[in-house]
Amino acid sequence: MKHAPKVLSLFTGGGGLDIGLEMAGFDTVACVDNDNDSCSTLRFNRPQWTVFEGDVREFQPPSGKFDLVVGGPPCQGFSTAGKGNPNDPRNFLWREYFRIVERVRPRALLLENVSGMASKKNAHHLEEFKQKLESLGYQVTSGILDAADFGVPQHRKRLIVLAGLGWKPQLPAVEPSRRLVPAREAIGDLQRRKVFPNHQPNDHAPHVVARWEKLAQGEVDPNYRRGRIYSDRPSPTIRAGGGYGPKGDHLAGFHPPIHYSLPRQLTVRESARIQSFPDDWIFCGSKTAQGRQVGNAVPPLLAAAVGRSLLDGLAKAALSEKLVA
Ligand SMILES: C[S@@+](CC[C@H](N)C(=O)[O-])C[C@H]1O[C@@H](n2cnc3c(N)ncnc32)[C@H](O)[C@@H]1O
Repeated sequence: MKHAPKVLSLFTGGGGLDIGLEMAGFDTVACVDNDNDSCSTLRFNRPQWTVFEGDVREFQPPSGKFDLVVGGPPCQGFSTAGKGNPNDPRNFLWREYFRIVERVRPRALLLENVSGMASKKNAHHLEEFKQKLESLGYQVTSGILDAADFGVPQHRKRLIVLAGLGWKPQLPAVEPSRRLVPAREAIGDLQRRKVFPNHQPNDHAPHVVARWEKLAQGEVDPNYRRGRIYSDRPSPTIRAGGGYGPKGDHLAGFHPPIHYSLPRQLTVRESARIQSFPDDWIFCGSKTAQGRQVGNAVPPLLAAAVGRSLLDGLAKAALSEKLVA
């Protein structure tokens, strides 16, 4: 393709999916999100992206051609980490995604979600989405990928749905010789950094520090339901919220896992490294808001692998169109 393919990004959040696609060679032109802090992050880091801050239900796509529509509709209703209410209205936002695809008719699209969207309980959403796409002439591929298989120092399983208008995209292949990146390799140097963006350690209460000092790597504190990560393995999934108090009460805020050698939770920057965000990507808003953006994101390195596979498919599809014409 002569130009970098243009992306319309829905539910953009803190931009993990988009910067991964950028690494692969795509150009995000417009983004949509209704969260003010996420929009501030996008505008701060990429002033050239047009950011529509508001409800996707009110978004009318701008005229002009987009090669790719991407997005990860909210997944709390599908998530295996939450209660997973099947009637959660957020479970139906993929229909908005489809409405926009129907209007834009991009050459390809990418939808990501928690693996729970493909579970038995929620599979009807996925099936309906696929059928609607097929009725427009798209060929659909989907599967669950683990970010750790693509150089991300974290096990994080995500459902990836790809579709091509008149051609069938492929998911990126997992190399049998891939190396799993250990957490220490990703965040070890940050232990010595006192002043670094989005890297302010939490001031935990002394009794919490005392408990976590005794915790072994891989062990979970049953009171707070939080584990200490291993230094020599990829981290478990970083989540957007998900904290629990000592009596099992659900806590607001950002509650990532515990550092492998320090008696505190990971900072936002350490969590962002575990998600494979580059250090020059700055998160705006309160610490809770920053953590939410990090925990909700598609790891950029996973997005880049999917993006390269899409780019390859787009180029082959363009070539065969030329040969037929
Ligand atoms: C799972 S996150 C997306 C993460 C993003 N793909 C990334 O890689 O960083 C879902 C996003 O959808 C946004 N959102 C939820 N409901 C929305 C709505 N009705 N309209 C617009 N955005 C919405 C949330 O603010 C959140 O940022």
